Amino acid sequence: MKFFVDTADLEEIQEANDMGILDGVTTNPSLVKEQGNVDFHEHVYKICEIVDGDVSAEVTATDFDGMMEEAHSLAGIHENVVVKIPLIQEGIKALRALDDEGIPTNCTLCFSPMQALLAAKAGANYISPFIGRIDDISSDGMTLVEEIVQVYDNYDYETEVLAASIRHPTHVKRASLAGADVATMPFDTLLKMLDHPLTDRGLERFLADWEEYKEARKAEAGMA
Ligand code: G3P
Repeated sequence: MKFFVDTADLEEIQEANDMGILDGVTTNPSLVKEQGNVDFHEHVYKICEIVDGDVSAEVTATDFDGMMEEAHSLAGIHENVVVKIPLIQEGIKALRALDDEGIPTNCTLCFSPMQALLAAKAGANYISPFIGRIDDISSDGMTLVEEIVQVYDNYDYETEVLAASIRHPTHVKRASLAGADVATMPFDTLLKMLDHPLTDRGLERFLADWEEYKEARKAEAGMA
Protein backbone atom coordinates (compact mmCIF):
# COMPACT_ATOMS: atom_id res chain seq x y z
CA MET A 1 0.00 0.00 0.00
CA LYS A 2 1.28 3.46 -0.85
CA PHE A 3 1.27 6.19 1.79
CA PHE A 4 0.79 9.82 0.80
CA VAL A 5 0.63 12.78 3.18
CA ASP A 6 -2.33 15.08 2.66
CA THR A 7 -0.73 18.43 3.38
CA ALA A 8 1.07 21.38 1.80
CA ASP A 9 3.24 21.92 4.89
CA LEU A 10 6.88 21.57 3.75
CA GLU A 11 8.21 20.68 7.21
CA GLU A 12 5.66 17.89 7.62
CA ILE A 13 6.39 16.58 4.13
CA GLN A 14 10.14 16.64 4.85
CA GLU A 15 9.64 14.83 8.17
CA ALA A 16 7.42 12.16 6.60
CA ASN A 17 9.90 11.74 3.76
CA ASP A 18 12.78 11.37 6.23
CA MET A 19 10.97 8.34 7.68
CA GLY A 20 11.58 6.61 4.36
CA ILE A 21 8.01 5.43 3.89
CA LEU A 22 6.51 8.30 1.90
CA ASP A 23 5.25 7.58 -1.61
CA GLY A 24 3.68 10.92 -2.47
CA VAL A 25 1.73 14.01 -1.45
CA THR A 26 -1.78 15.28 -2.07
CA THR A 27 -2.73 18.93 -1.82
CA ASN A 28 -5.94 20.83 -2.42
CA PRO A 29 -6.83 24.56 -2.48
CA SER A 30 -7.81 24.50 1.21
CA LEU A 31 -4.47 22.97 2.24
CA VAL A 32 -2.57 25.52 0.12
CA LYS A 33 -4.55 28.36 1.76
CA GLU A 34 -3.32 27.14 5.17
CA GLN A 35 0.26 27.93 4.05
CA GLY A 36 -0.49 31.67 3.88
CA ASN A 37 1.08 33.97 1.32
CA VAL A 38 2.97 31.46 -0.81
CA ASP A 39 3.28 31.28 -4.60
CA PHE A 40 1.30 28.15 -5.55
CA HIS A 41 3.55 26.99 -8.39
CA GLU A 42 6.76 27.62 -6.45
CA HIS A 43 5.30 25.79 -3.48
CA VAL A 44 4.34 22.76 -5.58
CA TYR A 45 7.87 22.74 -7.02
CA LYS A 46 9.34 22.72 -3.49
CA ILE A 47 7.12 19.76 -2.53
CA CYS A 48 8.22 17.88 -5.65
CA GLU A 49 11.86 18.46 -4.76
CA ILE A 50 11.33 16.85 -1.34
CA VAL A 51 9.44 13.70 -2.24
CA ASP A 52 10.33 11.24 -4.97
CA GLY A 53 6.73 10.36 -5.86
CA ASP A 54 3.43 11.66 -7.15
CA VAL A 55 2.38 15.13 -5.97
CA SER A 56 -1.23 16.08 -6.60
CA ALA A 57 -1.95 19.73 -7.40
CA GLU A 58 -5.53 20.77 -8.09
CA VAL A 59 -7.04 22.91 -10.84
CA THR A 60 -9.56 25.55 -9.79
CA ALA A 61 -11.25 26.15 -13.14
CA THR A 62 -14.59 24.40 -13.58
CA ASP A 63 -14.81 24.57 -17.39
CA PHE A 64 -12.95 22.28 -19.80
CA ASP A 65 -10.74 24.93 -21.41
CA GLY A 66 -9.81 26.46 -18.09
CA MET A 67 -9.02 23.06 -16.56
CA MET A 68 -6.85 22.12 -19.54
CA GLU A 69 -4.95 25.40 -19.37
CA GLU A 70 -4.30 25.00 -15.64
CA ALA A 71 -3.44 21.32 -16.07
CA HIS A 72 -0.78 22.11 -18.67
CA SER A 73 0.65 24.80 -16.47
CA LEU A 74 0.71 22.54 -13.37
CA ALA A 75 2.17 19.59 -15.28
CA GLY A 76 4.98 21.89 -16.44
CA ILE A 77 6.12 22.59 -12.87
CA HIS A 78 7.76 19.20 -12.29
CA GLU A 79 7.59 15.64 -13.61
CA ASN A 80 6.15 14.47 -10.25
CA VAL A 81 2.98 16.55 -10.62
CA VAL A 82 -0.33 14.74 -10.90
CA VAL A 83 -3.17 17.06 -11.90
CA LYS A 84 -6.16 16.92 -9.59
CA ILE A 85 -9.48 17.29 -11.41
CA PRO A 86 -12.92 17.59 -9.75
CA LEU A 87 -15.52 14.95 -10.49
CA ILE A 88 -17.90 17.02 -12.62
CA GLN A 89 -18.98 16.74 -16.27
CA GLU A 90 -16.29 19.13 -17.55
CA GLY A 91 -13.81 17.28 -15.36
CA ILE A 92 -14.60 13.99 -17.07
CA LYS A 93 -13.86 15.60 -20.43
CA ALA A 94 -10.59 16.98 -19.07
CA LEU A 95 -9.59 13.57 -17.64
CA ARG A 96 -10.05 11.96 -21.05
CA ALA A 97 -8.12 14.70 -22.85
CA LEU A 98 -5.28 14.66 -20.30
CA ASP A 99 -5.04 10.87 -20.48
CA ASP A 100 -4.76 11.13 -24.26
CA GLU A 101 -1.88 13.59 -23.75
CA GLY A 102 -0.17 11.36 -21.18
CA ILE A 103 -0.63 13.81 -18.29
CA PRO A 104 -1.34 11.92 -15.05
CA THR A 105 -4.50 12.79 -13.12
CA ASN A 106 -6.13 12.34 -9.74
CA CYS A 107 -9.91 12.64 -9.89
CA THR A 108 -11.08 14.24 -6.66
CA LEU A 109 -14.28 14.77 -4.67
CA CYS A 110 -15.61 11.26 -5.29
CA PHE A 111 -18.63 10.25 -3.22
CA SER A 112 -20.19 7.38 -5.19
CA PRO A 113 -19.09 4.21 -7.02
CA MET A 114 -20.71 5.43 -10.25
CA GLN A 115 -18.71 8.65 -10.15
CA ALA A 116 -15.64 6.45 -9.70
CA LEU A 117 -16.62 4.30 -12.68
CA LEU A 118 -16.95 7.37 -14.89
CA ALA A 119 -13.53 8.62 -13.77
CA ALA A 120 -11.94 5.25 -14.58
CA LYS A 121 -13.59 5.16 -18.01
CA ALA A 122 -12.21 8.66 -18.63
CA GLY A 123 -8.71 7.38 -17.87
CA ALA A 124 -8.00 8.86 -14.42
CA ASN A 125 -4.80 7.53 -12.84
CA TYR A 126 -6.18 7.93 -9.32
CA ILE A 127 -9.70 8.17 -7.90
CA SER A 128 -10.05 9.91 -4.53
CA PRO A 129 -13.06 8.81 -2.46
CA PHE A 130 -13.46 11.15 0.55
CA ILE A 131 -14.01 8.83 3.48
CA GLY A 132 -14.15 11.23 6.42
CA ARG A 133 -16.59 13.60 4.76
CA ILE A 134 -19.02 10.71 4.21
CA ASP A 135 -18.62 9.65 7.85
CA ASP A 136 -19.33 13.30 8.75
CA ILE A 137 -22.86 12.97 7.37
CA SER A 138 -23.51 9.79 9.38
CA SER A 139 -22.81 7.35 6.56
CA ASP A 140 -19.95 4.84 6.19
CA GLY A 141 -17.18 6.23 3.98
CA MET A 142 -15.27 2.98 3.87
CA THR A 143 -18.17 1.17 2.18
CA LEU A 144 -17.51 3.45 -0.78
CA VAL A 145 -13.87 2.37 -0.92
CA GLU A 146 -14.88 -1.30 -0.78
CA GLU A 147 -17.42 -0.81 -3.59
CA ILE A 148 -14.99 1.07 -5.85
CA VAL A 149 -12.32 -1.61 -5.37
CA GLN A 150 -14.86 -4.26 -6.36
CA VAL A 151 -16.17 -2.34 -9.39
CA TYR A 152 -12.64 -1.69 -10.66
CA ASP A 153 -11.63 -5.32 -10.07
CA ASN A 154 -14.69 -6.54 -11.99
CA TYR A 155 -13.55 -4.69 -15.12
CA ASP A 156 -9.77 -4.63 -14.59
CA TYR A 157 -9.53 -0.84 -14.49
CA GLU A 158 -6.02 0.34 -13.73
CA THR A 159 -7.17 3.50 -11.94
CA GLU A 160 -5.69 3.41 -8.44
CA VAL A 161 -8.01 3.82 -5.48
CA LEU A 162 -6.63 6.60 -3.30
CA ALA A 163 -8.49 6.68 0.03
CA ALA A 164 -8.71 10.37 0.98
CA SER A 165 -10.21 12.49 3.73
CA ILE A 166 -8.67 10.04 6.19
CA ARG A 167 -8.97 11.20 9.78
CA HIS A 168 -7.45 8.45 11.96
CA PRO A 169 -5.45 5.16 11.87
CA THR A 170 -8.61 3.01 11.80
CA HIS A 171 -9.48 4.63 8.48
CA VAL A 172 -6.06 3.55 7.18
CA LYS A 173 -6.55 0.04 8.53
CA ARG A 174 -9.96 -0.34 6.91
CA ALA A 175 -8.73 1.16 3.64
CA SER A 176 -5.90 -1.39 3.56
CA LEU A 177 -8.30 -4.24 4.31
CA ALA A 178 -10.59 -3.01 1.53
CA GLY A 179 -7.67 -3.14 -0.91
CA ALA A 180 -7.21 0.59 -1.53
CA ASP A 181 -3.98 1.20 -3.46
CA VAL A 182 -3.11 4.39 -1.58
CA ALA A 183 -4.02 6.10 1.68
CA THR A 184 -3.45 9.83 1.88
CA MET A 185 -3.52 11.18 5.40
CA PRO A 186 -2.61 14.16 7.56
CA PHE A 187 0.94 13.87 8.95
CA ASP A 188 -0.56 13.66 12.43
CA THR A 189 -2.47 10.50 11.43
CA LEU A 190 0.71 8.95 10.05
CA LEU A 191 2.39 9.49 13.43
CA LYS A 192 -0.64 8.16 15.32
CA MET A 193 -0.27 4.88 13.40
CA LEU A 194 2.88 4.34 15.47
CA ASP A 195 1.14 4.75 18.80
CA HIS A 196 0.56 1.80 21.09
CA PRO A 197 0.73 1.93 24.89
CA LEU A 198 2.18 -1.60 25.07
CA THR A 199 5.05 -0.53 22.78
CA ASP A 200 5.82 2.42 25.08
CA ARG A 201 5.50 0.31 28.25
CA GLY A 202 7.56 -2.52 26.76
CA LEU A 203 10.36 -0.19 25.67
CA GLU A 204 10.39 1.48 29.07
CA ARG A 205 10.79 -1.93 30.74
CA PHE A 206 13.56 -3.06 28.35
CA LEU A 207 15.54 0.14 28.90
CA ALA A 208 15.13 -0.04 32.71
CA ASP A 209 16.20 -3.69 32.75
CA TRP A 210 19.20 -2.85 30.56
CA GLU A 211 20.30 -0.16 33.01
CA GLU A 212 19.97 -2.63 35.91
CA TYR A 213 21.95 -5.23 33.97
CA LYS A 214 24.74 -2.74 33.27
CA GLU A 215 24.83 -1.64 36.91
CA ALA A 216 25.04 -5.25 38.06
CA ARG A 217 27.89 -5.97 35.62
CA LYS A 218 29.73 -2.87 36.81
CA ALA A 219 29.30 -3.91 40.44
CA GLU A 220 30.56 -7.43 39.72
CA ALA A 221 33.58 -6.08 37.85
CA GLY A 222 34.35 -3.82 40.81
CA MET A 223 34.28 -6.77 43.19
CA ALA A 224 36.62 -8.92 41.05
O1 G3P B 1 -7.40 14.71 -0.01
C1 G3P B 1 -8.66 15.20 0.32
C2 G3P B 1 -8.67 15.62 1.74
O2 G3P B 1 -7.77 16.67 1.89
C3 G3P B 1 -9.96 16.01 2.33
O3 G3P B 1 -9.81 15.83 3.69
O4 G3P B 1 -10.28 16.14 6.06
O5 G3P B 1 -10.72 18.00 4.44
O6 G3P B 1 -12.16 15.97 4.47
P1 G3P B 1 -10.79 16.52 4.71
